[in-house]
Amino acid sequence: MAFHAFPLFSSFPSVNQHMSSTLKSLRALSDPTRLRIVALLEKDELSVNELQEITRMGQSRISTHLGLLQDSGLVQSRREGKRTFYRLNPQANGDAGEFIDLAIRGAKELVEQESDQINLKRILNRRREQAQVYFNQIAGRFDRVYGPGRSWQAFGHLLLRILPPLVVADLGAGEGLLSELLARRSRKVIAVDNSEKIVAFGAAKAKKNNLKNLEFRLGDLQNPPIEPHSVDLAVLSQALHHAEEPAKAIEAAYKLLKPHGQILILDLLKHNFEKARELYGDRWLGFPESDLHRWLEQAGFKKIEISVVAREEQPPHFETVLASAEK
Ligand SMILES: C[S@@+](CC[C@H](N)C(=O)[O-])C[C@H]1O[C@@H](n2cnc3c(N)ncnc32)[C@H](O)[C@@H]1O
Repeated sequence: MAFHAFPLFSSFPSVNQHMSSTLKSLRALSDPTRLRIVALLEKDELSVNELQEITRMGQSRISTHLGLLQDSGLVQSRREGKRTFYRLNPQANGDAGEFIDLAIRGAKELVEQESDQINLKRILNRRREQAQVYFNQIAGRFDRVYGPGRSWQAFGHLLLRILPPLVVADLGAGEGLLSELLARRSRKVIAVDNSEKIVAFGAAKAKKNNLKNLEFRLGDLQNPPIEPHSVDLAVLSQALHHAEEPAKAIEAAYKLLKPHGQILILDLLKHNFEKARELYGDRWLGFPESDLHRWLEQAGFKKIEISVVAREEQPPHFETVLASAEK
């Protein structure tokens, strides 16, 4: 059975004025988005931001739905610092308890259920990793507060020094901007690209810069010309959205990694900027985090972490998503 929003009470304004708690609950649950929210709150309390990140819906839309759910008594809120957390009313019993059970059952029949549950799992995992949250808060402040000599560039160089001497595969490497940086600290970097011209250009530049441990190879993301089990780190930076079958590219990266090897994916979060196909030759308009998670899991990766790490100031406000996982 598919659920559709139905205007249960809109034609009965008089009912609206002195609504009983039963009618309020029925109204609250007459919308599939609110069923989704109730189902998401089943496991743990969530903030508006977290619900936004899970459902990819706007803040005002979520707040409106939460308001109705709260008004019906099915959901409660509590403040912690600047944030408000929402949870299912633990005192909801009798009819209200049954409504909540029904809503959770109904939500299971919605098409969004699978991605909602994957995203919920991801958010709850991330909560445990407070460092990530702090990093995001710092990242937000970084651009706004001037600090003499402080820059992402300088931080990048500092972070590079931490890198152990790894064997790295940069898949869809382009001319090797990232490969060159990595090669300065890595044991070896293999840069793979399917454009003959780009590979020739990148190889010539690496030679000119005397980077003997950076090797360019012509090949496809979905079947890179690299020995299986030979690489410590596979990087796909803004490359996956060019792959015909992104899941296959992730599977291929898994194969070439040594046991406990790492994958790092930087890509665009799902967007609607159709012109990207024409302007940048993009095959996919970014990816929802839930798709990346599913493909990584299906390939056999563990310790999957995915988060949005940057948002562009200018329209169309591309968002960058970073996914990491271990073989
Ligand atoms: C947007 S660029 C990213 C370059 C680089 N990784 C970076 O972050 O700056 C995408 C690159 O992927 C390459 N590419 C596209 N489809 C590919 C495929 N199927 N296999 C290998 N490389 C591919 C393109 O030639 C291009 O150089």
